[in-house]
Amino acid sequence: MAKPKFLIKTWGCQMNVLDSDKLAGTLMDLGYEPTPSEDEAEVILLNTCSVREGPENKVFTELGRLRPLKKNKLKVLGVVGCVAQQEKAAIFSRAPYVDLVMGPRSIMHLPELLEQARHQKALEAEFRDDSVLYPGGKISRSHPVKAFVTVMEGCSKKCAYCIVPFTRGREIYRPLESILSETREAVDSGFTEIELLGQNVNCWKDGATKGFADLLEAVSGVEGVKRLRFTTSHPRHFPLEAALLMAERPNICHYLHLPLQSGSTKILKAMRRQYDKEWYLDLVRQIRSRVPDIALSTDVIVGFPGETEEDFLETLEVVREAEYDAIFSFRYSPRPGTPAAKAEPVAGEVARERHQRLLDAQLPIQTRRLKAFAGRTIEVLVEGRSKRGTEWMGRSGDNKVVNFTSTGQPSVNTYLQVTVERAGANSLFGKAVTAKNEAPGAKCKA
Ligand code: SAH
Ligand code: SF4
Ligand code: F3S
Repeated sequence: MAKPKFLIKTWGCQMNVLDSDKLAGTLMDLGYEPTPSEDEAEVILLNTCSVREGPENKVFTELGRLRPLKKNKLKVLGVVGCVAQQEKAAIFSRAPYVDLVMGPRSIMHLPELLEQARHQKALEAEFRDDSVLYPGGKISRSHPVKAFVTVMEGCSKKCAYCIVPFTRGREIYRPLESILSETREAVDSGFTEIELLGQNVNCWKDGATKGFADLLEAVSGVEGVKRLRFTTSHPRHFPLEAALLMAERPNICHYLHLPLQSGSTKILKAMRRQYDKEWYLDLVRQIRSRVPDIALSTDVIVGFPGETEEDFLETLEVVREAEYDAIFSFRYSPRPGTPAAKAEPVAGEVARERHQRLLDAQLPIQTRRLKAFAGRTIEVLVEGRSKRGTEWMGRSGDNKVVNFTSTGQPSVNTYLQVTVERAGANSLFGKAVTAKNEAPGAKCKA
């Protein structure tokens, strides 16, 4: 008999992408198989994000579009992830044809909920501590070359604009042994690149004695790990021991995502970020002095309530001084229930204009940094065909997208030397040095 089929649609951050891989693994364990076809699916789950405005509405539009499928094969239509956690039963009131609502910390309970959803509405939105222990062997990994490993869940910060602490709950940490065993499993199944995941990954601890640097030391010591990355780091808690380890251990990648949010001390205070402009810039200097070739990226919010032109100019100043390789920037979006949502917003057109100026300020910086690679030969882990399909693509150790041509047929998940010929606005272009595939095992260097 043909297996029942499922389809998961994912929005939001890397944690949601990994959660979808976990949900897919659970469903496959129950005897389902994935399908790209909405018409074929018996179970459709929407894994949602609520970090900025409008996603709820987007979810309801999507639900309305899928509704007619319930007359055919579709048995369970579910909303999971951060919108599910936030809206809970209100989802059933707005879309009574939804069968299942499940928050991100309840993934382990999908089998029972699915069973229930076949007869009656199923709702689960507790902040459970067992979610951090989801077994690695049951994850259906969708990334071609990288294994994501959860090290902590939730967020215990109180940034004034942010919904995440409400949707993911307080921080819980995964014990070191459990992280190491998932890492070993991932390596045994062929992954050489590991990315440790957590909303504040560097707040990880195990008991009173082990902190983030110990975690990096232990995971980078697992045999077969050729590239180790981690995200997202909170600047306030980034230990300089971690930067030292990056410099010492060839398999810890020279790349760090260090969200700034604003360059103005006044706005950072209003945001409750727990650092100020000078402190952040000093951290960047300290990290760069230990790892001179590190690539940095950041998140910036423009138009936070109370942001004046002078505040914004301070953000531009930090952006120029920190010299990021990439910036992810967002216009401030008020989130219900957060303290900042009560404040008077900056006018839409002012925020839009500042956002554009931020992009304009960053472009020459990242272009200059990319151009510095021209003529150099760098190591690339092959991910597959490039977007255009005519070339190949992979990433350097410092996380640059490298598009390249090759006279041979490179295999996905192997390391190649690529000579960079030119730089685009966001990526590098080059030519593979060796036509022959190299076995995984080369070192992680830019
Ligand atoms: N834990 C991470 C961030 C997770 S949310 C950290 O502290 O850096 C990802 C990014 O979304 C944030 O870094 C922030 O830049 C952006 N963001 C969060 N809330 C937002 C809001 N209300 N409006 C606009 N951007 C927001
Ligand atoms: Fe949100 Fe701040 Fe927590 Fe990041 S640290 S998830 S921005 S509350
Ligand atoms: Fe979005 Fe939830 Fe991630 S709100 S950014 S999916 S933690």
